[in-house]
Amino acid sequence: MVERYVLSIDQGTNSTRCILFDHHGRLVSVAQREHQQHFPRPGWVEHDAVEIWRNLQRVVPEALSTAGVAAEEVAAIGVANQRETTVLWDRRTGAPLRRAIVWQDTRTASLVDGLRQQPGDEFFLERCGLAPSTYFSALRIRWMFDEVDGLKERADAGEVLFGTMESWLIWNLTGGTEGGLHITDPTNASRTMLMNIRTLAWDEELLAFFGVPRAMLPGIRSSAEHYGDARSVLPGIGITAALGDQQAALFGQTCFSPGEAKCTYGTGSFLLLNTGTDLVRSRHGLLSTVAYKIGDQPQAYALEGSIAVTGSLVQWFRDRLGLISSAAEIETLARTVEDNGGCYIVPAFSGLFAPRWRSDARGVIVGLTSYITRGHLARAVLEATGWQTREVVDAMNADSSVALRELKVDGGMTADNLLMQFVADVLDVPVVRPLVAETVSLGAAYAAGLAAGFWPDLEVLRRNWHRAAQWLPDMDPEDRELEYENWQRAVERSLGWVR
Ligand code: G3P
Repeated sequence: MVERYVLSIDQGTNSTRCILFDHHGRLVSVAQREHQQHFPRPGWVEHDAVEIWRNLQRVVPEALSTAGVAAEEVAAIGVANQRETTVLWDRRTGAPLRRAIVWQDTRTASLVDGLRQQPGDEFFLERCGLAPSTYFSALRIRWMFDEVDGLKERADAGEVLFGTMESWLIWNLTGGTEGGLHITDPTNASRTMLMNIRTLAWDEELLAFFGVPRAMLPGIRSSAEHYGDARSVLPGIGITAALGDQQAALFGQTCFSPGEAKCTYGTGSFLLLNTGTDLVRSRHGLLSTVAYKIGDQPQAYALEGSIAVTGSLVQWFRDRLGLISSAAEIETLARTVEDNGGCYIVPAFSGLFAPRWRSDARGVIVGLTSYITRGHLARAVLEATGWQTREVVDAMNADSSVALRELKVDGGMTADNLLMQFVADVLDVPVVRPLVAETVSLGAAYAAGLAAGFWPDLEVLRRNWHRAAQWLPDMDPEDRELEYENWQRAVERSLGWVR
């Protein structure tokens, strides 16, 4: 049978998706399942890794059967995943030791404070490109060691495995306790604080510092090569790519050249700028990360501005406050009013990430008066995403000394026209969205397809990029600056809340 499709798995913060793409990078079918978000305490966020693995086992056959595609027509499988979320599991039974601790979780804040004092940010930035934050994985492993008696000893003995979601899923896909592969790729490993950002190997000094035994770590392979067969779900079909979801989106947007950037609007939002084979150190609060490593070619790096809470603020508005019944409704509600009525929401639910990195911040709503309606709050929710993007773009412009001229966007929130217009307005540059907005999945498919010979080179992929929508800036410059100032005053009020 002719291999006509690449199958992509996107294991995200909210759901697990399987998408089939054809040769032109067109989306052929999608299957998706959400998993439960657990919030056991303020600032804690957890996922059940078994529920996620079960969802994956369902969405793969669903995507194939919706399109009437046979497994033999699939050339390769690519995996993209929420990054930093930490799973520990028992090598012998395959069972997770506890619920996975999600990237948004802030329970390690006091450990972070200690590290920032001693040995200090420089020590870490030099080795792994990251300054200590609750965001990354290493401290979560440390936290679990401190919490569970005997866990560290079991990990030393090689009985416990660590992985971010791609490792957990690939291990299960390739056979689990029956010889599953325990691997990761440099884009994911670069988010643990354990990998040396230059050599792309686990860094002995960092391992010693965090007390993480090598025996529990996955092998680091490239982002695109044949790893093994997906024998528990699609026997005979090779898994040939793994990338953190944001790096996958950069790849799916075909930002292959230095200077090209994209912003993905999901639960959080992540702006990545390809810096080529140069590792660039930010002076303005961005982090350095591996963009991708295709086979044995040299790795590409990126500067990243990570925003923790954007789409998840809309979710909170829907699920926790019950002010809307679907995410799409936020736009309708926001359109019931002319402006924000003087109200600003700073969604520092996980502290603030780039460019401020303040784990002591918590969310605030300011400017409340009796005038404020649900509509104004809805506007403030959407505007929070716009202003957070502006802060990250300002940092990126300052770092690269060349101002961004256009922003490529993707992800679920780009369906919101009011928001995308606001982003163009506050950045004062055009915002463009490609035809396939599922760029995380597309990027994983592209990398997998390249490794499997389904696509010959990057040029062919570039030709698949087509613009579907564009928003042009249309805001009075004085209003823009005044509103930005108000936003910054609101942010000031969120800082230092946690003592
Ligand atoms: O770093 C966290 C990021 O990978 C999460 O992405 O799309 O699942 O919110 P998403």
